[in-house]
Amino acid sequence: MFRWLVALTACAVPLAQANPVLARQSDYVKPNSTGFRLQHGFETVLVQPFGYDGFRVRAWPFRPPTGQEISFVYDPPLEGFEDGEAHHLTYDTAFNGSQPVTIRNGNTIVRTSGWGGNPGGYRLAFYRVEDDGSETLLTNEYAPLKSVNPRYYYWNGPGSEFSAEFSFSTTPDEQFYGTGTQQDHMVNKKGTVIDLINFNTHIPTPVYMSNKGYGFVWNMASQGRMEFGQLRTKFTAASATVVDYVIVATTPGDYDTLQQRLSALTGRAPTPPDFSLGYIQSKLRYENQTEVELLAQRFKDHNVPVGMFVIDYQSWAHQGDWGLDPRLWPDVAAMSKKVKDLTGAELMASLWPSVADNSLNYAELQANGYLSATRDGPGTTDSWNGSYIRNVDSTNPAARAYLWATLKRNYYDKGIKNFWIDQADGGALGEAYENNGQSTYIQSIPYALPNVLYAAGTQLGVGKLYPWAHQQAIEEGYRNATNTKWGSACDHISLSRSGYIGSQRFCSMIWSGDITSVWETLGFQIASGLSAAATGWGWWTVDAGGFQPDPTVSWSANISTPEYKELYVRWLQWTTFLPFMRTHGQRNCAHQDAFTCNNEPWSYGESNTPIIMSYIHLRYQLTSYIRALFARFHDTGRMIMRPLYMDFEKSDPNIATWTSQNNNVTTQQYMFGPSLLVSPVTLPNVTEWEVYLPATGHNGSKPWTYWWTNETYAGGQTVKVSAGLEHIPLFHLGSREEVVSGDVF
Ligand SMILES: *[C@@H]1O[C@H](CO)[C@@H](O)[C@H](O)[C@H]1NC(C)=O
Ligand SMILES: *[C@@H]1O[C@H](CO)[C@@H](O)[C@H](O)[C@H]1NC(C)=O
Ligand SMILES: *[C@@H]1O[C@H](CO)[C@@H](O)[C@H](O)[C@H]1NC(C)=O
Ligand SMILES: *[C@@H]1O[C@H](CO)[C@@H](O)[C@H](O)[C@H]1NC(C)=O
Ligand SMILES: *[C@@H]1O[C@H](CO)[C@@H](O)[C@H](O)[C@H]1NC(C)=O
Ligand SMILES: *[C@@H]1O[C@H](CO)[C@@H](O)[C@H](O)[C@H]1NC(C)=O
Ligand SMILES: *[C@@H]1O[C@H](CO)[C@@H](O)[C@H](O)[C@H]1NC(C)=O
Ligand SMILES: *[C@@H]1O[C@H](CO)[C@@H](O)[C@H](O)[C@H]1NC(C)=O
Ligand SMILES: *[C@@H]1O[C@H](CO)[C@@H](O)[C@H](O)[C@H]1NC(C)=O
Ligand SMILES: *[C@@H]1O[C@H](CO)[C@@H](O)[C@H](O)[C@H]1NC(C)=O
Repeated sequence: MFRWLVALTACAVPLAQANPVLARQSDYVKPNSTGFRLQHGFETVLVQPFGYDGFRVRAWPFRPPTGQEISFVYDPPLEGFEDGEAHHLTYDTAFNGSQPVTIRNGNTIVRTSGWGGNPGGYRLAFYRVEDDGSETLLTNEYAPLKSVNPRYYYWNGPGSEFSAEFSFSTTPDEQFYGTGTQQDHMVNKKGTVIDLINFNTHIPTPVYMSNKGYGFVWNMASQGRMEFGQLRTKFTAASATVVDYVIVATTPGDYDTLQQRLSALTGRAPTPPDFSLGYIQSKLRYENQTEVELLAQRFKDHNVPVGMFVIDYQSWAHQGDWGLDPRLWPDVAAMSKKVKDLTGAELMASLWPSVADNSLNYAELQANGYLSATRDGPGTTDSWNGSYIRNVDSTNPAARAYLWATLKRNYYDKGIKNFWIDQADGGALGEAYENNGQSTYIQSIPYALPNVLYAAGTQLGVGKLYPWAHQQAIEEGYRNATNTKWGSACDHISLSRSGYIGSQRFCSMIWSGDITSVWETLGFQIASGLSAAATGWGWWTVDAGGFQPDPTVSWSANISTPEYKELYVRWLQWTTFLPFMRTHGQRNCAHQDAFTCNNEPWSYGESNTPIIMSYIHLRYQLTSYIRALFARFHDTGRMIMRPLYMDFEKSDPNIATWTSQNNNVTTQQYMFGPSLLVSPVTLPNVTEWEVYLPATGHNGSKPWTYWWTNETYAGGQTVKVSAGLEHIPLFHLGSREEVVSGDVF
């Protein structure tokens, strides 16, 4: 019942408006079949042409799917199949594997063959048809002679849900980009093993691009694993009723087309509200109404432009109230009006999914079945700061409506219209067990995530849906409240600590989680953002300055130390060149004059304040450029943060090599849109910085201009530029006027 509703809302999102840029060339080869159904013993495999140049595969043992399973890909995709009909479970060819079958869609072919070279047609292989008619193998089901089946099922539990392991061939030189975010400082994920289990700072998501010219979506809500071995890529689903994936091909190296194809499957981002493109002020935490009003006054006094102020957790009386504590926030409407009048800025407030027994909403949520439960009795899903908590079950549409109605009454109708979906990871509160901080020694006990039950299924079966369902709750709320269509421009914005396949379709940014305030962590975030971009999430940001002190580094997050001030300035200047520029975190200090230590633009010392201010102003100067990047991302899925392989893999052989090696050039330098090359300083005491300027293949012998001196450089060389604390290494292609005007496409 609920599963049906979830599937329906996940699919019933209106399509993006057709855009002339997307017009398909007339030589597109239409599919010569609507699909085939292979009966293979107790197993059935359904393969359908899907979108342009793609195939969707579903496979199941014994019981057929209903066709209403949770899906993160649109049926039909946003592009391809002009008739716009959903494919459902249709096919025109059925066979039993006795003969090979081939179907073609555009420039992609799927062909069946027997195991180990034997005749027959049980095994799938995907090829790209080249211009000369030859076929290039992209990947096939991996089946060395007499090994475990490439489609392997087993039953662990009492029900009919099964575990599945699907294996695909790869070669040692293949590279994979995307897979959500990990804190692993890698852009190329080849060789890694990634658990499909959400934690704070880890949002594993099975969407990736291959340098062989195809994209892949493991369209499963299940927890599990992705393994990128030398010869085999393997996906594990811990608990499933059907296995579902999509593969889509392009010319190798044409990553923009690949993103267009992938986002036609998983979703196109709407355009964000203008205020969110400015500077977003946050800290752990502004405690009360007076403090927030004073903050706005200070921004006005300092004449600092600001788009939004953020109210963090513990602003409620009890977890799960989804409202501000009236003792600390006596008049929310007056506060939001005052802040708006003073600065023009919006407010955002944090909500946690956790509901404590003493919450105002607990009884009603519990009575209606809106709280997630566990498979082991009435169990709680976690405990936090002295209360046992149960998480709201956002996979239940009625719970989403309840959550939104509460937020609307307590915040939205009083002028706080933007929501921070924190602790959204699902299962528990997204952290290894920390024993409530009650002991230094009893922490990170390796408990499994609780055996959570949701309306949509179990933690094992649908745990990956949970963060997405939170984003969906807020999105539905926004669309209902503003009477706007999904996909149309966003009036408001949410901020989420997690997400999943297609999260870009929501008015929601994802940030990299609760990271530590040290140099190495700063360096790690860059690759995390580049992987987010390749996964399709353009709306990405970080906590400038890091979220929390690293306990092993005495100065970490301490605003009274020169070491941290320097780190903060470097970090903040980098965020100017992220999709969203946002500061946040827990700070230490020598002199506390607010509820917690300060984290405002003027909190980092007299000499640093003008530097910080200059970057906030620069951000506003780049508004037209940034707006153009978001507009293009909306239209075609064209990535905003661009790993160097996107633009230079073909023009500069070093880039392909270094990307494969995860060389720091490719994990720490990137293009912000088509014109700006950014190489954030990730080390202390730097006055000069080496930057590799890729060969562009463009006309002009010196295409790169250093932003701070206007000196020009040829591509294909490493240059050393002056990079005192006030200067982030930043280069542009084309004229500065074009960049500033946003006239870059
Ligand atoms: C498989 O299908 C073919 C073609 O329809 C048929 O001739 C053959 O008997 C089938 N094999 C089995 C084992 O049923
Ligand atoms: C579809 O086209 C492919 C390649 O052009 C061909 O090999 C195959 O037999 C065709 N299949 C069908 C079902 O018509
Ligand atoms: C736990 O809650 C208490 C009471 O609300 C609060 O004073 C304290 O700061 C909280 N602790 C943490 C770690 O947030
Ligand atoms: C949005 O409106 C629809 C239609 O009235 C309703 O079914 C849904 O529950 C609403 N969603 C939220 C989150 O309020
Ligand atoms: C590469 O970047 C990481 C993360 O910033 C850093 O720890 C490491 O020292 C860098 N390596 C080199 C050779 O610069
Ligand atoms: C922060 O640094 C200041 C200046 O060194 C020091 O006095 C203070 O104790 C530090 N605070 C913490 C919590 O480490
Ligand atoms: C609000 O917080 C400030 C500290 O930032 C404190 O000085 C003030 O007393 C608080 N006001 C109320 C009403 O709690
Ligand atoms: C940075 O420079 C200062 C002063 O020159 C020195 O004390 C400090 O050790 C240096 N820090 C690092 C990390 O090299
Ligand atoms: C320069 O641009 C023109 C027009 O796009 C092109 O025909 C020519 O080949 C380019 N020259 C070089 C050296 O890239
Ligand atoms: C660089 O050129 C821009 C105009 O393109 C100008 O505004 C800026 O002042 C110049 N910077 C320097 C250091 O000359």
